[in-house]
Amino acid sequence: MKTILHDNVTTREGELYFSNVKVTDIIKDYGTPIFLLDENKIREHINEYKSAMKEYFGEGSMPLYASKACSFKELYRVVKSEGVGTDIVSPGELYTAVAAGFDMSKAFFHGNNKTDRDIEFAMDSGLGYFVVDGLEELDAIEKIALRKGIKQKILLRITPGIDPHTHKKISTGGVDSKFGSAIATGLAEKMVKESLKRYAVVLKGFHCHIGSQIFEVDPFIDAVEIMTEFIADMKSKFDFVADVLNLGGGFGVRYKECDPIISYTENIKAIGAKLDEQCKALNIKKPVIYLEPGRSLVADAGMTVYEVGSVKSIEGIKNYVSIDGGMTDNPRYTLYQSPYTVISVNKPEAACDFKCTIAGRCCESGDIIQEDVMLPKVERGDLIAVLVTGAYNYSMSSNYNRIPRAPVVMVYNGTPRLAVRRESYEDLILNDM
Ligand code: LLP
Repeated sequence: MKTILHDNVTTREGELYFSNVKVTDIIKDYGTPIFLLDENKIREHINEYKSAMKEYFGEGSMPLYASKACSFKELYRVVKSEGVGTDIVSPGELYTAVAAGFDMSKAFFHGNNKTDRDIEFAMDSGLGYFVVDGLEELDAIEKIALRKGIKQKILLRITPGIDPHTHKKISTGGVDSKFGSAIATGLAEKMVKESLKRYAVVLKGFHCHIGSQIFEVDPFIDAVEIMTEFIADMKSKFDFVADVLNLGGGFGVRYKECDPIISYTENIKAIGAKLDEQCKALNIKKPVIYLEPGRSLVADAGMTVYEVGSVKSIEGIKNYVSIDGGMTDNPRYTLYQSPYTVISVNKPEAACDFKCTIAGRCCESGDIIQEDVMLPKVERGDLIAVLVTGAYNYSMSSNYNRIPRAPVVMVYNGTPRLAVRRESYEDLILNDM
């Protein structure tokens, strides 16, 4: 048995297995293109976060799955069954979570522009926390909560001013962000002052999110330092004691062999140590810590399988392998030139001596999944798989060129089941008058 990149993708006697199920068997039942999602892997990651956070942050701390990474009913049910919370960023994600029976008291509503309707809908759904982005939103929440006669818990989204790529503290780094209120401009402080004046809004603490796909722990340590200093400052200025500090998501994931292997437990341990040190030094109460992992819970639990349609060799230039999906199910190469590992499904152990570019089927030259991939010689009808597609693939998929969205099949303890069915052509015209 050989493992490819992550332990849920293996080869045995010329066959490719995903989460211990023969991939060709799943394809026989459900067709291509298709997203496969390994439920055991997702639960494994959630449990790693849960136990590390309990050990290093203390009781009450927990991960909140950032469901923008991948959102559909069955996934909220899995998250719910693990007893953790979720981060939602739109009324659509909210609606999906509610429809799945999620405990909305553990849901945190993000976003830089929540409409009055969104706010009302969230309150009616029993939402736990709004993560408030700015003053107008604070006013709107106060007004609607007053009308409903409720007290609404909120966190304030704070921009700490950290550049996660250089991991340097720069005081104005986040000032140009469209999200949150920057400490550097004084808006963060103003938001605290304003929140404390409101009657129907209960300020519980603060939130920050410094970025995504971060392999180093230093930027998170910097975030702890800046945010605890802010907590101490707000305590001295307004006598406000923050109960909650939500440090957002962002831990990196291995997409290719060359990416580093990082330990989420070690990251959490280092963050916890810094937190303890800061709380002691600043003489503040240790807040309950939340993290909002998205990518690191679901990315390596995913794999996309495509069927090859055409193989076009442009002499001396490149070989195109065209597949039955593309930017409609994975726009991440088109958008960010994201790296991916591509493998052959039906010849997983053959020598990879054919250099090619994997092209999608959209009428768009930029519809590329990956360039300069090494595969065994492929031909029409072969199956290929793109690994680590569990995050920001299905959730970012579209109907461009009126291509129906691919289904999601979840595998749990060796049994595949349909979690999202394949879109039909009728689905495509459902809203057309
Ligand atoms: N919390 C907040 C407030 C966020 O904005 C995000 C991601 C997360 C948590 C989760 O971060 P993660 O653990 O997944 O890194 N479409 C892009 C990623 C956008 C991330 C947006 N915010 C991509 O495909 O790479």
